[in-house]
Amino acid sequence: MQDHFKEKAQNWDSGDIRVKGAKTIADAIEKEIPLSEHMEILDFGVGTGLLGFSIAPKVKQVYGVDTSAKMLEKLQEKNTPQLAIKAYHQDIVKEPLKQQFDGLISSMTLHHVEDLDAFFATIYKNIKKGGFIAIADLEREDGTFHSDNTGVHHFGFDAQTLRDIVQKHGFADVKIQNINTIKKPHKDFGIFLLTANKE
Ligand SMILES: C[S@@+](CC[C@H](N)C(=O)[O-])C[C@H]1O[C@@H](n2cnc3c(N)ncnc32)[C@H](O)[C@@H]1O
Repeated sequence: MQDHFKEKAQNWDSGDIRVKGAKTIADAIEKEIPLSEHMEILDFGVGTGLLGFSIAPKVKQVYGVDTSAKMLEKLQEKNTPQLAIKAYHQDIVKEPLKQQFDGLISSMTLHHVEDLDAFFATIYKNIKKGGFIAIADLEREDGTFHSDNTGVHHFGFDAQTLRDIVQKHGFADVKIQNINTIKKPHKDFGIFLLTANKE
């Protein structure tokens, strides 16, 4: 598994934009989805747990998957007996999880997934009937969001294209809304939240 976040992991949590961005995503998810203490949730591309740790107190258990061993090392340092994310170092598209979850959350990871059809087909199987997905990522951009585009397979997403893919793989009630703007010195970048259900 390639780890494009090996170098970034050490200082990931000192990025103010990242910390605030993940909090905004967590708030937007909570507004859209009635989370409950019985839920088991999968954070796809959990990284150091910026999103997962915000959601964890509201649900029974957050599980995380990530292809970066270094990001997961940083996550493990933050686990406590009171609040812990169960994390797997696994590419779930190539090696799917057998477990089913009440919901899937994800922050800023979808643009790193090359084969979107394979991804949505996989996660559909990992979501229980009646469960949800809540995925936040970049709106369509011009390729200047990252200073280095290694491992970036999509320059953000066009809402209609993404809606079509998600519906094609069986999800219903697809909603895509702008929830944040990341201001960089050269440009502003929109962030969307996609929510959908498995009926
Ligand atoms: C931009 S970071 C976001 C991390 C975290 N969600 C956050 O908001 O801080 C993207 C994360 O997705 C992980 N990733 C990239 N491709 C992945 C894949 N195919 N499966 C699982 N994780 C992946 C990376 O290793 C990295 O930790």
